[in-house]
Amino acid sequence: MTQQDLLQRAFKEILENETLVSNDPYRLQYHLMAPVGLINDPNGLIQFNGVYHVFYQWNPFETSHGAKFWGHYTSKDLVHWVLQPPALVPCEWYEKNGCYSGSAVEDEGKLYLFYTGNLKNEDGERVSHQCIAVSKDGIHFDKKGPFISVPKGYTPHFRDPKVWKSNDIWYMVIGAQTERKEGQAVLFSSKNMIDWQFKGPMAGSNMNGLGDLGYMWECPDLFNLGNRDVLLVSPQGIEAQGYHYQNLFQSGYFIGEWNPETNVYQHGDFTELDRGFDFYAPQTFEDENGRRILFAWMGITDEQESYQPTIANGWIHALTLPRELQLIGDKLYQKPAAELRRLRKSRDVDEQVSLYDSEESWFELSASVSEKINVEFHQIDADEVEIAIRDNLKLRYQQKEQLFTLERKSFMDRAPESRSCELTSLEKLQIFLDSSSVEIFLNEGQEVFTSRFFADPYHQKVKFTANGKVNATIQKWDLLSFSLVTELKKD
Ligand code: FRU
Repeated sequence: MTQQDLLQRAFKEILENETLVSNDPYRLQYHLMAPVGLINDPNGLIQFNGVYHVFYQWNPFETSHGAKFWGHYTSKDLVHWVLQPPALVPCEWYEKNGCYSGSAVEDEGKLYLFYTGNLKNEDGERVSHQCIAVSKDGIHFDKKGPFISVPKGYTPHFRDPKVWKSNDIWYMVIGAQTERKEGQAVLFSSKNMIDWQFKGPMAGSNMNGLGDLGYMWECPDLFNLGNRDVLLVSPQGIEAQGYHYQNLFQSGYFIGEWNPETNVYQHGDFTELDRGFDFYAPQTFEDENGRRILFAWMGITDEQESYQPTIANGWIHALTLPRELQLIGDKLYQKPAAELRRLRKSRDVDEQVSLYDSEESWFELSASVSEKINVEFHQIDADEVEIAIRDNLKLRYQQKEQLFTLERKSFMDRAPESRSCELTSLEKLQIFLDSSSVEIFLNEGQEVFTSRFFADPYHQKVKFTANGKVNATIQKWDLLSFSLVTELKKD
């Protein structure tokens, strides 16, 4: 199909499903979603001429995975978003089965997209090319075609180029699988962005002192933060270990020192970025204020994916909120981007409560569809503190066990299921609740739990309980929805 045909079909799909999608009570109020169909990875994150660009993997035609487009949003402030026409459409021979994930860079006033052309050949075998597209205005892109094919020793699971420039040299890290079925992050470099040299793996399963860490690494991202070199990767094929690696696929990071000349990367252990159910394929960029900002897919390909109730209404999945990364010691902290304060409906807090030393502490907040709740714990003299959210989620801190747990009802059979992490002390919680998502930042971003959940839309209560004395301040803000924000902008 030609580019024009595919674009027309996609626009038709948006229009035909507009009412169905927007009437879904689970449609999120302040998160980026596809207008219809399936969204997965954030791609091409960049601030270009002052404007933030978020591209995303998009299947407009189904709520399952398929030949992906690059959908496109822009924003001047990370809060008001404009839906732009799709940037890449899978119409050329080398990308016919999807314009897969990638990244964006600016050079001499132009915006370049690097992505993976995914192709199934006549024998049904996967073929993978790294491709480039260029734009002057950041909206319309000219494809320049494939420029890297898979080097010897690797399978066609070779994708997701992340490109950056350092000391006049362009670098590209790619997610790869060796013929021995080991996940790796491999490096290419170039002087002119056209001719690329393969520099080999910089990290991988059974490399640099690591044990087995999966059969494929997706979506690598290498950047410098606090004078250390951070490598994000999304490995597939890691077995669960205690409270770790509980999801089907993982996303996490290494901290270390990378030598661009030798491509040697000395790094520490792999640490998970998020402890919730729905977080995958994160990507970062440095904005014009020098902040390292991360978006991730608030979803994952697992056995629950096809049970999400929004499928009946023509859409599935979303992206996380933007988060600023900070390195404290050897740990990445994630903080909600400061701009998100502008989502508050009123400047003053909507509800504030102080819990004192009563024997049995409990409190119930008034109901809202989208809200931000801050809890500051001054002292906990209780074994267990619990926050029950709507009729679905439970957050629990067990002081003696030093364990924080998020429990939700499974999409498949509504049975309770949980994710936990060790936490020596609980000081602060920031909870972003949307119509069907939660992002919980513990102790200023030391740990984060990101999850979708599908509660009774008419049961919006949030209830605090503790089996002992708790000294805490609870604050709550109602949040605006995107559409409201857009209207406010017009005024
Ligand atoms: C990660 C991923 C990428 C790939 C894209 C396809 O979720 O599998 O490796 O490029 O999604 O949509």
